[in-house]
Amino acid sequence: MRLVLGVSGGIAAYKACELASRLVRDSHEVQVLMTAGAARFVAPLTFSALTHRPVGMATTDEPMGPLSHVALARWAQGVVIAPATANLLARLASGAADDLLTLVVLGFRGPVLLAPAMEAEMWSHPRTQANVQRLSGDGVRWVGPEFGRLASGSAGLGRMAEPEQIMRAWDWATTPQDLLGVRVLITAGPTWEHFDPVRILTNPATGSMGVLLAEEASRRGAEVVLVHGPRVTLPSGPSIRTRSAISARDMLTAVLEESGAADAVIGAAAVSDFRPAERLVAKAHKEDVAHEWAMAPNPDVLAEVGRRFAGRKVLVGFAAETDDAVASAQKKLMAKHLDLVVANEVGDSRGFGSDEHRAWMVTPAGTVSLAGGHKAATAKAVLDFVKEQVQIVRGGSRP
Ligand code: C5P
Repeated sequence: MRLVLGVSGGIAAYKACELASRLVRDSHEVQVLMTAGAARFVAPLTFSALTHRPVGMATTDEPMGPLSHVALARWAQGVVIAPATANLLARLASGAADDLLTLVVLGFRGPVLLAPAMEAEMWSHPRTQANVQRLSGDGVRWVGPEFGRLASGSAGLGRMAEPEQIMRAWDWATTPQDLLGVRVLITAGPTWEHFDPVRILTNPATGSMGVLLAEEASRRGAEVVLVHGPRVTLPSGPSIRTRSAISARDMLTAVLEESGAADAVIGAAAVSDFRPAERLVAKAHKEDVAHEWAMAPNPDVLAEVGRRFAGRKVLVGFAAETDDAVASAQKKLMAKHLDLVVANEVGDSRGFGSDEHRAWMVTPAGTVSLAGGHKAATAKAVLDFVKEQVQIVRGGSRP
């Protein structure tokens, strides 16, 4: 993307160097525009070396050719301003056009993301907050400020968001919110079934597929509840609520409590099909453990949801198999009353914990092979399907 990175005059300007570098590494074309104040904190040469472009400076009274504000506003596909000082917010809110950066923003009609940085008292001042309201009304997006150590040395709300957070916010700001108002319940990860307090029956699932689904759904505006098994690295994103479950029976309880409000339920968890019939209260010792341990069948979480909600909610499952994944997915589609089963091949080096898998989308209408093989692409495809089907369910045109 072609980005204007505006830098205004605060000590956080040094962090904008890291941001510029990351944006360039992320294949964006970055044009830095600095206010007069910013150039007192960081040398323009630093930014031009990082972005391989001359930096646009505050003054507008000299002929600038490709750096004219009109050309820049047309060239840019997005504007990120980090740090955005209280003074800059005031100038932007008033529609001032008294330096190159404000001139460009005034002439630009695409997405604008601001990362404010100032002393806590300045941020909470009613005048600043009124400026924030005004700019929000114009469609400006925000990242931060955060609570933390400020330039004055004291702690408060006013610290600029970290570059990584700004990158993520930018990604969100430019992602179409096509799942806004859609409530998605996702299960992820393994379950643990205890033999005794220290021994468990489990599997190598890490929850990565469910976590990617949760992040992608949240990025696109959905409200997400993630019911996850043990040791899952939790997702980050707005509107994600997480709830932990240890065993299959815990997961069933959580999912049944949460599923009433959901438009779609996606079962990406690798739920253990069995559990030890008996769970010892104290650790079993080598010498007194019987050689055979009876197993009891676990509830099938997704099948239970299918039994209750088929036709009224969009239901998606995964079928991880070492062979004949598609045939097995077709069976599960029918048996569990699902709308979609993603068939994927797992083996020693594929599937569990890896970012790659070979997958097919199996629906009553047929089977489509998913190109790419990356789990993130699978998450996208699944949520495209969910979006389309939720519209059909809401429109009442489902058979
Ligand atoms: O039957 P199988 O375990 O292969 O089915 C996989 C699908 O069913 C997955 O979507 C999984 O999350 C879900 N499932 C479940 N509860 C079980 C077993 C599987 O929700 N006990």
